[in-house]
Amino acid sequence: MLTKAYLCAPEKACFLKLLIGMKYTTEINRRRTFAIISHPDAGKTTLTEKLLLFGGAIQTAGAVKSNKIKKHATSDFMEIERQRGISVATSVMTFEYDGNLINLLDTPGHKDFAEDTYRTLTAVDSVILVVDSVNGVEDQTRRLMEVCRMRDTPVIVFINKMDRDGKNRFDLLEEIEKELNLHLHPMTWPINSGKDFKGVYNLYDKSLVLFTANTKANDEDAVRISDLSASLLEDRLGEKDAAVLREDVELVDGVHGALNNEDYLKAAVAPVFFGSAVNNFGVKEMLETFVRIAPTPRSRETSKRLLDVNEDKFSGFIFKIHANLDPKHRDRIAFLRVCSGRFERNKYFHHVRLDKDIRFSNPYSFLARSKDVIEEAYPGDVVGLFDTGNFKIGDTLTEGEDFFFTGIPSFSPEIFKEVINKDPMKTKQLEKGLLQLTDEGVAQLFTQFGGNKKIIGCVGELQFEVIQYRLLQEYGAAVEFRALPFYKACWLTSTDDKKLVEFSRFKQANIAEDKDGHMVYLAQSEWFLNTERTNNPEIEFHFTSEIHKAE
Ligand code: G4P
Repeated sequence: MLTKAYLCAPEKACFLKLLIGMKYTTEINRRRTFAIISHPDAGKTTLTEKLLLFGGAIQTAGAVKSNKIKKHATSDFMEIERQRGISVATSVMTFEYDGNLINLLDTPGHKDFAEDTYRTLTAVDSVILVVDSVNGVEDQTRRLMEVCRMRDTPVIVFINKMDRDGKNRFDLLEEIEKELNLHLHPMTWPINSGKDFKGVYNLYDKSLVLFTANTKANDEDAVRISDLSASLLEDRLGEKDAAVLREDVELVDGVHGALNNEDYLKAAVAPVFFGSAVNNFGVKEMLETFVRIAPTPRSRETSKRLLDVNEDKFSGFIFKIHANLDPKHRDRIAFLRVCSGRFERNKYFHHVRLDKDIRFSNPYSFLARSKDVIEEAYPGDVVGLFDTGNFKIGDTLTEGEDFFFTGIPSFSPEIFKEVINKDPMKTKQLEKGLLQLTDEGVAQLFTQFGGNKKIIGCVGELQFEVIQYRLLQEYGAAVEFRALPFYKACWLTSTDDKKLVEFSRFKQANIAEDKDGHMVYLAQSEWFLNTERTNNPEIEFHFTSEIHKAE
């Protein structure tokens, strides 16, 4: 075999390039970047913790849970402030499993649910959806799944809390399919639920995994049953349950057959697992399937072309900006998702919007490597960049080429409030503060058409408290908010400009402009929105607005 010592200079360069290329491909192929989504209390934190335990990223149960915003804290806002450092750390959790490098991006729930919960989903390649077997599909899940559907994000479903008396398994699957518009494909099948829960049958490797509470269920606990008619099933489950399982499996197998990975990757079907996160049951089966089938970092659309993840030039985009609430430290952390090439510390990269080259001396990674400064990052990775105001959501960094990543939308807020300036002497500071804070992407700023009324729109109520506090602390601007009776903002487009002008004249009280001057209709209710849609067929009403569009 040739070794480097026998090669001349050009050959050496060639050899080196080949080695780098091989390392690069290996690094991409071992990455899985995903998020767990659920309705609050379905078990997302518990499942996250079990995955981190399997990955060795944490050593004790409770490490993530204690970082969760306390449900009964006297003020959620003060709690958020106290937890700020920790929540940055848990924004991205990286761990290794079976040679794979897994980046788990947090999607905050509860009252801190914000637009960047939605936008985080634009930075992942797949999601795991946790559904509570007792409560079934709930509102927040529905909204998060809409974002996944927009992007055809592959989904794996984990039906949790099988140790509680839940809904009938067939009814539950039907409900999920109907409510979330998903085609499900069971990978495991439960034997009863609640106090009669006996375990799951793994339809993929045809093994029976018996339930014992609080175990580290692993392969040794599984009973291989290649033939379901064997009497071993009666020995393990008893006659009645064995008969029901045989019947169920026949039915499920008959309907679904084997999983077609391509269908999952196209988001045409979603594999389903049953388990109990708190008992660490069914989690390992899911994790193993996840690393086997979940997509590696994917190629992405840009304003110019489809950017191949294997291109060797670096590119990435900012999907989240996390501000420091301490006024003495105005710095922010911009979250960069690497999309191609290699991110390197201290190398100059091109900030496309500002048309300037910048380098980062202290880029860092998150939890697992405990905020270590990193030297390099690969597609699928998320890097934290200290920012003093250079970044807006959707900004693109490249090695020189001018393009923007598309598919990073602004989402319609759900709560709207008018900003009341309590100190006219501070109007300038207020305007600057509103512009800068809304650049961070957790709230949107609208200006009412024909007037100067400033409207803030958010997804979660808590953001108003944060904005009010920060405007005062960081900009010296005192404000109050007045609730407005709108339920959604719709961005308006039409091939006929005259129709838009006419509509905005008739509906002045409901028309506003976003920060980029795009026209928005603020609808009071679904009924009003549907009526306007019917009455104005030439106008399109969109619940999202692309930050960057294809050229
Ligand atoms: P979230 O992040 O989705 O909001 O949910 P989280 O993991 O915090 O779980 C919500 C509650 O459900 C927790 O109980 C948790 O222990 C419980 N839980 C999670 N998985 C299971 C399961 O498989 N079976 C059962 N029976 N319960 C489960 P809690 O009382 O609110 O908190 P804690 O006191 O247990 O920490």
